[in-house]
Amino acid sequence: MDIFDSVLNFVMPPLSLVMLAFAWPTLTFINTCEWLYSTYFCEDMEHKVVIITGASSGIGEQIAYEYAKRKATLVLVARRETRLHGISENCRLLGSRNVLIIAADVVKEDDCRRFVNETINIYGRVDHLVNTASLGHTFYFEEAADTSVFPILMDINFWGNVYPTYVALPYLRQTQGRIVVNASVENWLPLPKMSLYSAAKSALTNFYETLRFELRDEVGITVATHGWIGTELTRGKLMLEEGADMQWKEEREVHVTGGKIEEFAKMIVAGACRGEAHVKYPSWYDIFFMYRVFAPNVLYWTFRFLLSNEGRRTSLIGTGRALLESPSPPRDGSGRLIAGSPVTFSQSPPRQQLKFE
Ligand SMILES: NC(=O)c1ccc[n+]([C@@H]2O[C@H](COP(=O)([O-])OP(=O)(O)OC[C@H]3O[C@@H](n4cnc5c(N)ncnc54)[C@H](OP(=O)(O)O)[C@@H]3O)[C@@H](O)[C@H]2O)c1
Repeated sequence: MDIFDSVLNFVMPPLSLVMLAFAWPTLTFINTCEWLYSTYFCEDMEHKVVIITGASSGIGEQIAYEYAKRKATLVLVARRETRLHGISENCRLLGSRNVLIIAADVVKEDDCRRFVNETINIYGRVDHLVNTASLGHTFYFEEAADTSVFPILMDINFWGNVYPTYVALPYLRQTQGRIVVNASVENWLPLPKMSLYSAAKSALTNFYETLRFELRDEVGITVATHGWIGTELTRGKLMLEEGADMQWKEEREVHVTGGKIEEFAKMIVAGACRGEAHVKYPSWYDIFFMYRVFAPNVLYWTFRFLLSNEGRRTSLIGTGRALLESPSPPRDGSGRLIAGSPVTFSQSPPRQQLKFE
């Protein structure tokens, strides 16, 4: 390494932190002015059309209610159509005049084309595309006995956002619309037992941050980043329901700590209507990013410490307990699982349990 880089390695981190500390009040002032301006000129969603993927539960469902209160026309997408019926009724009661439900799998490009085209045929426009379809997991990477679930996790968490975006973009350009993405703090905060989910979410964030530059404000992008919120994802997928993916055995009952999803959904929709690039909940999590850059060992030691605490139960997505064994899910000729079909992970016995409470 040449001497120049060696000096900068030593000098730049503390210098940058000092400069940032001095710039902080000015940056806060600018951000506050921007926030006040965008709050005053907030987008009116009445007569606007919003497509929400993953609307059959959790954050997607609550986001639908928030848009409904703003009188938006809604297109609710998920695979479990039965759940969408009840949610669409609630949306109507809350203020939406038009609610369309479409059963579709976001991993399939054709399905994505179908729900976007159907929206255009019926309502003639798309103003917001909200991507919340997702699938979580909690197991140590080497405990997974079946590698064919790996691409399924990547498919739903990454391609399941990219396909709807690709198909809807030409229409979003016409309305100078907005894409809302549900990322996660695991984008950059490495949490044990969530390696594939974190990898997909990192890819997702980098994809949309790059796309933001390519679209140059012609279509807005709001990336929502949050920690743990009590939803189906954190409680484990519903079992034995049409279209449910994971069949976590006991995790539905796991008590989950964290913010309220209603509050977070309200923040996301308000942020999207104000045209914000990022919505964070809670925003203090950002500080972990500094640790990741400047003191990664601190994060590493923290997780080592938490993992060494035998006997602590997890309150994250899963518990590491063996998952329910069910009849083999459908596979194609090469023996790989067919995407979109119910999946069961079989795991080796858990090593230990983890708790964040
Ligand atoms: N909950 C948390 O603590 C937390 C934390 C960080 C980030 N997040 C993120 O927030 C978003 C929403 O999470 P959530 O907690 O609300 O999850 P959730 O309750 O499990 O909901 C996931 C939704 O995705 C849908 N979905 C899954 N696979 C699909 C597919 N192939 N095609 C169409 N729809 C599909 C599900 O509906 P169907 O099964 O009916 O298709 C369901 O409506 C996700 O992006 C998640 O990563 C959540």
